[in-house]
Amino acid sequence: MDNFTFWNPTKLIFGKDQLRQLGKEVGRHGKKVLLVYGGGSIKRNGLYDNVLKQLNELGAEVHELSGVEPNPRLTTVRKGVEICKTERIEFLLAVGGGSVIDCTKAIAAGAMYDGDPWDLVTRKAAAKKALPFGTVLTLAATGSEMNAGSVITNWETNEKYGWGSPAVFPKFSILDPVNTFTVPRDQTIYGIVDMMTHVFEHYFHLEESTLLQDRMCESLLLTVMETAPKLLEDLENYEHRATVLYSGTMALNGMLSMGYQGDWATHNIEHAVSAVYDIPHGGGLAILFPNWMKHNLKVKPARFKKLAVRVFGVNAEGKTDEEAGLEGIEKLREFWDSIGAPSRLADYDIDDSKLDVMADKAMVNGEFGNFAKLKREDVLEIYKASL
Ligand code: NZQ
Ligand code: ZN
Repeated sequence: MDNFTFWNPTKLIFGKDQLRQLGKEVGRHGKKVLLVYGGGSIKRNGLYDNVLKQLNELGAEVHELSGVEPNPRLTTVRKGVEICKTERIEFLLAVGGGSVIDCTKAIAAGAMYDGDPWDLVTRKAAAKKALPFGTVLTLAATGSEMNAGSVITNWETNEKYGWGSPAVFPKFSILDPVNTFTVPRDQTIYGIVDMMTHVFEHYFHLEESTLLQDRMCESLLLTVMETAPKLLEDLENYEHRATVLYSGTMALNGMLSMGYQGDWATHNIEHAVSAVYDIPHGGGLAILFPNWMKHNLKVKPARFKKLAVRVFGVNAEGKTDEEAGLEGIEKLREFWDSIGAPSRLADYDIDDSKLDVMADKAMVNGEFGNFAKLKREDVLEIYKASL
């Protein structure tokens, strides 16, 4: 196991009616608030009114930035930074899914930076400071509500990059499963795929002794796989929504990743696809991840076997590690098919015409992946297998 330091300062407030804590939490940081949200789901389900009620009771001066896109765009980040600077905003409140939260992180850091916020995303400059912000999460998927990462798209140049800084941990995140009841079926599926893939990205590493971390990853996967089909039958079931919501946060808040470095290549490969085609992140992962697995099965077959046996119930008797591992990959594909996740780029009308463009984007910082280093030809092979 590698040495590690665990530090996560986000206060997680979980459960029914916990929005009532919002005013008190915001009040600790300031009263000039920028409320950031997406394309209108929070207005349709009533959450917007409830949030405003709390902010009004606090006596906050509320400014708004609406219309944050899924795969949030740099143009929207710039708009938010402008509001923060001209209105002297003291606190930002993100109400939405990962896109709204990621956009808020970039605004919060951009507001404390003199240049263009794209410098922070491309790591030309480090985000050293940020305005404080909190979140009210409405979609279980990314873990952005309790981590210091953010993913921003520059639609003019078709670039989508992840960046992060300890300065952009949310001060608090309020997670009420009821606020996820209205997440449509397809977005619920994408969220499930995304959180599972976060665990897989962790699981494929080269450290030898990570016994507790492995069991934690496996239990999260088993829990999500047990719950997902039940939730998809009953989208307003509180207990199932709660299980999946909590799982999404735990899958990417640092708890699983202590003492080793996960792979993360597939996230890079997917970001290059959605930079060009603007597809949902979880949909892209459902297509790409099993093909990344097949491509790298030979790197360490024992690791794939462990996953196959412990999570997918594969009987490894009389089989090589590679055979058992491959069976596990096929069972993952079957599971994602069974819940209705996409399996081919063609499902998003993506053909082979821009594979080179996407591969170039994925390679922008050179070879990548911690479990298996991918070269340009590896990326192209994974794309081709995914057509
Ligand atoms: O915009 P609104 O109207 O709110 O609708 C959204 C959006 O259309 C809708 N939605 C959200 N909550 C809802 C709801 N609809 C009804 N009821 C609700 N309660 O769902 C749609 C998708 O929302 P989005 O925020 O885009 O989804 P998600 O949370 O999956 O975020 C995806 C973004 O996060 C990035 C992805 O790349 C992508 O840009 N990621 C961020 C990470 C991080 N910061 O740690 C890690 C991830 O791996 C990921 O890359
Ligand atoms: Zn993800």
